[in-house]
Amino acid sequence: MEKQRIRFDVNHMMAEQIGERGFTEQELTLAAPKAAEAFRYVRENRGKDMMGWTELPYNQNEVVESILQTAQAVRERFDTFVVLGIGGSALGPIAVQQALNHLHYNELPKEKRRAPKLYVEDNIDPERMAALLDVIDLKTTCFNVISKSGSTSETMSQFLILWDRLKREMGDKAKDHIIATTDAAKGNLIKIAQQEGFTRFVIPDGVGGRFSELCPVGLLAAAVCNVDIRALLAGAAYADELASTDDIYQNAPLMAALMQYLAMQKGYNISVMMPYADSLKFIADWYCQLWAESLGKRYDLNGREVFTGQTPVKALGVTDQHSQVQLYTEGPFDKVITVLGVEKFHAEIGIPEGCADIPAVHFLCGHTLNELINAERMATEYALLKSGHLNQTILLPEVNAFTVGQLMYFYELETAYCGAMLGIHTFDQPGVEEGKNAAYALLGRPGYEEKGAELAQKPGKQDRYII
Ligand code: PA5
Repeated sequence: MEKQRIRFDVNHMMAEQIGERGFTEQELTLAAPKAAEAFRYVRENRGKDMMGWTELPYNQNEVVESILQTAQAVRERFDTFVVLGIGGSALGPIAVQQALNHLHYNELPKEKRRAPKLYVEDNIDPERMAALLDVIDLKTTCFNVISKSGSTSETMSQFLILWDRLKREMGDKAKDHIIATTDAAKGNLIKIAQQEGFTRFVIPDGVGGRFSELCPVGLLAAAVCNVDIRALLAGAAYADELASTDDIYQNAPLMAALMQYLAMQKGYNISVMMPYADSLKFIADWYCQLWAESLGKRYDLNGREVFTGQTPVKALGVTDQHSQVQLYTEGPFDKVITVLGVEKFHAEIGIPEGCADIPAVHFLCGHTLNELINAERMATEYALLKSGHLNQTILLPEVNAFTVGQLMYFYELETAYCGAMLGIHTFDQPGVEEGKNAAYALLGRPGYEEKGAELAQKPGKQDRYII
């Protein structure tokens, strides 16, 4: 297990390494009670209210069995599996698929894939829906409609479009092409699913969208595509076990949260996640939602206006060395950059002999792309260090279901700790709901007349400002 442990390296956050902008050990010692308090808060509240996600690594034996059976049936019967969902109902499935399956999974021949193609449709761009319909065959496609609230307009419109087409094309058999993942009792999707007889999976109480990857929201698509979901959960349980102390030097997510919290107090309002591995590219997207929706809050727990949060930014190493790293090394001191590194990639590609007469190219020969990507990662860390920009590294021994489960749970814990330090409601999203409600009102949903009237009061746009 130890060999599969991810490591969190904060050397480049410390003053002794990075200079005056870094933290001193004394500063961390002074702040340790804050961390201990957050640790206690999270521990005391785990499994309660909106912290049901903490128990997902432990309480899903039966659910996992049922997911595995359904996944097997889907593999036997369908060529394509389409997730319809948005936000927390899509970003986890996308991140896990990218991390744990072939990087050109859908393009692999079926014999190699040994599972359906996967599409996660997390937008309502009409061109995207038309494009999906161009490439799938409804007769061999299974749709997993995922919505915790069961009322999100984007997901429900996708459902309506596809349900209508399925019924027209397949009549009574249409219902066998839909799996609904939603709340056990609340919302419209559960009602529709019961009425139509869809296969159903439950998003447990206390598991909000962005904390839902390790429940059926993420596990079903992963299992359909042959990801080892038990290993994913075992990795999460391991991360939980490693975080069982309030000592920041032993509990990595607690240290991570404390450093981000302290950095925020000093005006570091941006958190960049930069994986040096294509497999982890969409983990950064998943993280952006987790961090932004959880910590971006107007009020604290006492109802005081705090306008807190840290803007998450995603970058990809090495690609974004050639676009963003200039800003990260020479721009304002307002970012904490987290580099994700991978020790052992699943492929090794050597750089062959060539261009012997051009030393500036020939030096690459005999190395591997593996060496190159990690050398470039270390070079970026060095450049950031030299320029005095706070940076930290999470190193994965390799990318597999166990380490990805660990990484995701690490970030969920870090987010919960940081929210506790900030004294905010970490698990709600009133800002998202305001937008959802305004959209309902604009489209005439019954019950939203008052919101419609409120919208009608907004200041009219002036032509002179539209240039
Ligand atoms: O994290 C959240 O709660 C949100 O981003 C939701 O996941 C997103 O709005 C989709 O909501 P639902 O799953 O209810 O359709």
